[in-house]
Amino acid sequence: MKCVMVTGGAGFIGTNFIRYLLDESGYAGRVVCLDKLTYAANLMSLEDVARRHAGRYVFVRADICDAAAVGAVVDGNGVDVICHFAAESHVDRSIVAPDAFIETNIVGTHRLLEIVRARMGRIRRFHHVSTDEVYGSLGPEGRFREDTPYHPNSPYSASKAASDHLVRAYRETYGLPVTISNCSNNYGPYQFPEKLIPLMIFNARDGKPLPVYGDGMNVRDWLYVRDHCEAIWRVVTAGADGETYNIGGRTELPNIEVVHVICDLLDERLGPLPGGGSRRGLITFVKDRPGHDRRYAIDCGRIERELGWKAAESFRTGIRRTVDWYLANADWVKSVQTGEYRKWVEDQYGGGAR
Ligand code: NAD
Ligand code: DAU
Repeated sequence: MKCVMVTGGAGFIGTNFIRYLLDESGYAGRVVCLDKLTYAANLMSLEDVARRHAGRYVFVRADICDAAAVGAVVDGNGVDVICHFAAESHVDRSIVAPDAFIETNIVGTHRLLEIVRARMGRIRRFHHVSTDEVYGSLGPEGRFREDTPYHPNSPYSASKAASDHLVRAYRETYGLPVTISNCSNNYGPYQFPEKLIPLMIFNARDGKPLPVYGDGMNVRDWLYVRDHCEAIWRVVTAGADGETYNIGGRTELPNIEVVHVICDLLDERLGPLPGGGSRRGLITFVKDRPGHDRRYAIDCGRIERELGWKAAESFRTGIRRTVDWYLANADWVKSVQTGEYRKWVEDQYGGGAR
């Protein structure tokens, strides 16, 4: 492999993946980070990477729906592997404004597949990063397996399901060298605070209300982001063409328990709230998310057995690392809270992104 293009590389998982690739994986080639720079992108998170790996790392601002622009990036850089993370990723946003989800997640993925099809032989692997939400909601028992039927319930998960189907269809029809991974909820450094864990850390730190949807008993299967990055790289380098791998943390927790752990950790690190009392007192139960999936849980036996991957981090250790990272990186948190990170991006890369 000479050049890996990471779409959505300026987002949460993409940023962590690029860091893993360049700093830890042993990969010796080049990386192109291609990103449209929507509200969810934060190039400040990659500033040190760009400096440390100048010559091996390049950033390009482009929309995956723009086939001419992306094709030129692929050809100009000799890209031979594409790791496709770019997406609209937040379920709540997909409920109020689904259009961008259809455009980026479905049309954008289709454009990329066409780019690969036009370069058969030159692109050795197209890896599609997907989600366990395509499988829908579980009852109290069972886990999602690779052969679980698709049953998406939100515009976000339906758009990801559509993109998975397109990737699979391009394998069957045109023989594209694709792999797909469907992963559970990620947490860790550099996550945008619209998602549960960073939102709760930001608010609990600052003594603000902690909005828990419904009864707080919806269950998610949490995976530390570095473990996800390692799993993706394992699939890219050792996975079989045309195959799907489920990735998860074997850590099912109701949301309310996750929020309790975060409150207790922050109480331990920062002491009680200024007026006294635990941060658990900030919890506010709010109106439920429409179509809120009750429970997700991943059976990741296949990737463990066939590719020898296993999550290294337990929730107990991963959440401590995560809380400590946000506390130690107050400047990063502030730049996100004040919107300064957007100004920085626009100063460097011009207007246009939402
Ligand atoms: P994110 O929202 O943090 O980042 C998405 C990135 O994609 C942003 O940098 C954004 O600017 C970029 N992007 C959006 N539209 C684009 C376009 N049209 N062209 C180019 N770039 C565009 O998302 P994330 O949480 O890092 O998720 C990354 C991928 O992993 C997504 O495909 C998501 O579906 C999948 N996933 C996420 C999780 C999770 O828990 N976060 C779990 C499983 C799978
Ligand atoms: O399962 C993988 C998916 O995990 C990814 O595909 C998505 O991109 C990612 O956003 C995530 O989706 P969720 O909807 O599960 O994540 P979110 O952080 O938005 O919510 C996690 C749970 O917490 C969910 O049950 C809703 C609840 N929640 C969320 C927020 C933001 C709250 O109770 N309060 C909140 O304020």
